[in-house]
Order: sequence, then C-alpha cells, then structure tokens
Amino acid sequence: HKPVPQKAGKLTFQAVAPNTADAVTIPPGYQTSVVLRWGDPVVPGAPKFSLTQQTGASQSKQFGYNNDFVGVIPLPGEKNRALLVVNHEYTNEDLMFPGFVSQDALTSDQIEAAIAAHGLSVVEIERVGRTGQWKPAKGHRLRYNKRITALSTEFKLTGPAAGSAALRTAADPRGYTVIGTLNNCAGGVTPWGTVLSGEENFNQYFVGGDAVDAATKTKFNRYGITTTARYPSGSRKWDRVQERFDLAKHPNEANRFGWIVEVDPLNPGAPPRKHTAMGRFKHEGANVIVARSGHVVAYMGDDERFDYLYKFVSEKKYIKSDAPWARKHNLSLLESGTLYVAKVTGDSPAAEIDGTGKLPKDGRFDGKGVWIKLVSGNRSFVPGMTAADVLTYTRLAGDAVGATKMDRPEDVQPSLRTGKIYAAMTNNSNRGVGANAPADEANPRNANKHGHIFEIVEDCGDHTATKFTWSLPIVCGDPAAADTYFGGYDKSAVSPISCPDNVAFDSAGNLWISTDGNALGTNDGLFATPIEGKEKGHLKQFLTVPKGAETCGPFITSDDKSVFTAVQHPGEITGASVEKPASVWPDGDYAKPAVIVTWRTDGGPVGS
Ligand code: FEO
Ligand code: CA
Ligand code: CA
Ligand code: CA
Repeated sequence: HKPVPQKAGKLTFQAVAPNTADAVTIPPGYQTSVVLRWGDPVVPGAPKFSLTQQTGASQSKQFGYNNDFVGVIPLPGEKNRALLVVNHEYTNEDLMFPGFVSQDALTSDQIEAAIAAHGLSVVEIERVGRTGQWKPAKGHRLRYNKRITALSTEFKLTGPAAGSAALRTAADPRGYTVIGTLNNCAGGVTPWGTVLSGEENFNQYFVGGDAVDAATKTKFNRYGITTTARYPSGSRKWDRVQERFDLAKHPNEANRFGWIVEVDPLNPGAPPRKHTAMGRFKHEGANVIVARSGHVVAYMGDDERFDYLYKFVSEKKYIKSDAPWARKHNLSLLESGTLYVAKVTGDSPAAEIDGTGKLPKDGRFDGKGVWIKLVSGNRSFVPGMTAADVLTYTRLAGDAVGATKMDRPEDVQPSLRTGKIYAAMTNNSNRGVGANAPADEANPRNANKHGHIFEIVEDCGDHTATKFTWSLPIVCGDPAAADTYFGGYDKSAVSPISCPDNVAFDSAGNLWISTDGNALGTNDGLFATPIEGKEKGHLKQFLTVPKGAETCGPFITSDDKSVFTAVQHPGEITGASVEKPASVWPDGDYAKPAVIVTWRTDGGPVGS
C-alpha cells in the first residue's frame, strides 16, 4: 500500500499571536464574518428573537445555543448553495435569561427554550459573490431548513440493541423511538452526504439516579450519572417540564442517549437515527472513511479521563453512486457491523517514560496497537455480556477486555489524503495522580494539562485491519517548555497550543486543530500544521476566539476557499450574566454563540 503523499501546499499565513481580546482575530489578508448566531431564524416563519420572551416554540424555529460541530453539505448541482449543519451541545442558562437566579426560578417556558436550544440546525447558505464568504440563503423556499431539538424531535433507534429491554420506556414500550438528542458535540460528514453527531455528556440531564436499584447504579456510575442525590450538582431540573428526565420514574430513559446520531439533511422529512451498532458512551463524534474493501470505517472517541478509542466497521459495503437506490443502501451502512476498542503499547522501555514528557531514547512516543473486537452483528465477544449489553454499556465492555485508558479522546478523524487517523487527546489532570493510571508511552505526561495528538497508521493501510502502529506527532503546550514536541520541527517557529479538541483537514492534507480550555492563559483558537514531510509540526495559530469561548468546527470547504468555525460559549466565565457579560461578542451587547466563516481576501486557498 502506498499512501498518497501530502501536497506541497505550504502554510504561508502569518500566525496570530496569543491574546485575550474579546474578538475573533485572524491573519493579515483574511476576512471573517458571522454566518449564524444564537436566536437567528432557521425555520421559515421563526419569530424575531426576544431575550425576554423565549419559549420552546420560538427556540424550536431559531438557531440553538452553543454551536459545536459544523458540516457543510453541498447541494447537488449547486456551487454557490449548500446546507450548513450545526450541533448545539448545551446551554448556559445564566447567559441566556436576563435576571437569572437559579434553575428553580426559571419559568417552564424558559426551561423548554433551553431544552429546544439543544440539538442541531440545518440551514441553507449561499456564497457571497465569488468569495469564500457565505451567509444564510434568503428569498426562496428554504425547504431544507430544520431544527432538530431535545424537546420534541422523534429519533429512530437502529441496530442490534434497538428494541432491547434496556431501551424500552413507558412512553416507548417497543424501544425504537426516542424524543430528542442531547449534548451533541463533534461529528462528521459521511461520503453519502449525511451528518454524524456524537451524544456526549448526556449524564448531566437526568435526576433521580439515587432511586434506582444497585445493579443499575453501577451502570449509571460508569457513565457519570449521579446516584447519590436526587439532583446532580448544577442540575438543569428538566424533570420540571418533562417527567422522562426523572430516572426514579423512568430509569431506562438515560439508556436512550449516548449514541451516534445520523441526520440526512438532504431529506428533511426523514427521522434522524441513533445507531446502536456504534456503541454507547460519551461520544465526542464519529468520522467515516471508506476502506479499500468498500466497508465503511468510523473512528470514535469517548471523551472522559481514562476512557477509550473505538472503531466501527460496517457489515455492508459502500456503493459509490448518488443514484437513489445506492443512497438508500449507503444510509443503512451504520446500522450493522463490528465494534472494536483500542489497546496500545509503547515500543520504548517503561523506565524511559518518566511522566514528564521527556522523549524516550528512540526519540519518539510510538508503538503498536490492536483493535479488540467487542461485538459483531448480534454476536458478543465479551464474556457475560449479550450483544445488546455490549452496545448499551460499551464502557463496561471496554473495561472487561482491558482497553487502553487514554487522556480524554475527543475528535478522531482519518486524513482522506494519507489514510492516517488523527485523534485529539485533550488533557487529563488526573493522569498519574493518586491511584489513577500513571503515564505510559501513548499518554506520556502525568497531570497532562495541555494534551496531545495521537496518530494511527492501520496495518497495510487497511482501515478494516485489527492491528496498527501509532505515534504522537504533537505533544501540546508552550513550545519553549521541554515537555512539548512538534514533529521534530524547530520549536522557536511554532505557536503555543493547549487542549486540542477538534481536528479537520484541508484538501492538501494539512491538519487543522481547534482548542477548548487553553491552559496557557490566553484565548482558545484554531491552528494548522503540515503533518507530513519537512514542514511536519510547523504549527501556527490561524485565529483566536473571544473571551470564555472554545473553538469548534472547524470545517474547510472542499474548494479550500472557506473555513467555518463555531465559537462556542463566549463569555462563559463564573459570575457572568446577561447584564454583566464577560464577553459582548459578536454584537456588542451580550455574548452569543455563533458560527463564523473566514476566507482569503484574494480568494485563494485558506492557509496556504
Ligand atoms: Fe464536548 Fe469532548 O467536547
Ligand atoms: Ca518509542
Ligand atoms: Ca469537543
Ligand atoms: Ca472539549
């Protein structure tokens, strides 16, 4: 197997300096604009946004809160129109509602607005002139525009665990239909034009976990659901408006979240689906590549300290055609297949991994790995667990087979140019602390504050392989610090980076990385680096986001003209409110999460 080399495409933009400005900052020669902000109309007929009159009904037609994943789906036959698909991960009620005091003091309308502000938005966008700028499309039917919410959107469960006992509730005795999606974090666009979205920290929305039986508590605890008090700390108390969020009455409702969701934006009438074959954990997201055999392979991270990396291999093969029969077939690919979890070992002596991030004698953090089969179709490979058990309590299955505990696996994405896979390990303050697992070659720093990038090369470049090699091309932090590594590149020419979260590629194969929680004291941002050749590790900061925000997306359009970025939770700083905002981005009044697009003024490819 001979991977396609990365294009020469050097990244020539001038790096943005770290800063704490309440603004989006970009390199010279670029422009940026807001595409959509919280409250903007999505569904035709949406009411004009009013801070003081938010309801479930109004928010169900408007752009939701805390935009995270961004995908741009081309409309067939259109160069200048596309569908923007965005996740809305969670809400900051203290920054959404004027006069916020507590969840208990919110009105039912406000709680319903917050529930509806979760989910996804599908918005038709159009290019401005011939530039890389895009704005919401106007003046025609907008038949694709849609809000998917946690409040009322019906989802279909697919795969081996659909209909199983643990997924049945009073409202859904057959166990095939779920209302809503929760905490949708990252995601991916499939080759057949759908969007995958990960249900991540779904545990925080439920109350009453203290009232379930001991066996259920054990499972809940592994997923972070509070079992020692009726209300978890900071509870949103959604049981005030929808009883299903009370696990004392509906203990199985929690099992209906934590899945990979697939949305078909080109078919707005089709119900979104939750694919049980891809397992249940705190799904960051999923990204698909078609293997040489034609099977589709999805790579996935479970974002928790000491949790695991997974991959799913479809049972059926992808058909490369846009014909309706082929698309119908491709839409079924994620409903059946084999789920694996990663176990990795380093190739350097354990004594050389001292937990400080010092490189071992061979000069690389690297080694080998195996994909351990957990379940294939209806057949479990984990003793004592049925296939439905493995898929519903996937973390317990990973524990049972001795998967490798990683430093919070976030976004995982294959490069379509080289076939190599890149995973962001965002940080792990507990690594090596107390009785927790100490540093190993794949997670080489104790109390890992700044995170690292984990690269996977499947054996023979075959994405269905069960063995791989791995290395760490980037160990994040201040390049002046001894515990960082940038592919061996001259560190004096590299931007500081902390807490990598989302990864993406431009068509030249450069790796783009967005950050969440910069522990170096400056704002989060978006970075780009070549990941092959002489420039490998020459990482530069492309933009920074306003105060209190994390940087999400990113998505580079296939023509390389535009980079979409989601600015999530601007102004999320303790004590801030609508009246006393910590950020007034983007409009100068109070903080609003928003999706931005950045393009080169001369129309050239972004980055290079
Ligand atoms: Fe929602 Fe793992 O970031
Ligand atoms: Ca090594
Ligand atoms: Ca994330
Ligand atoms: Ca994160």
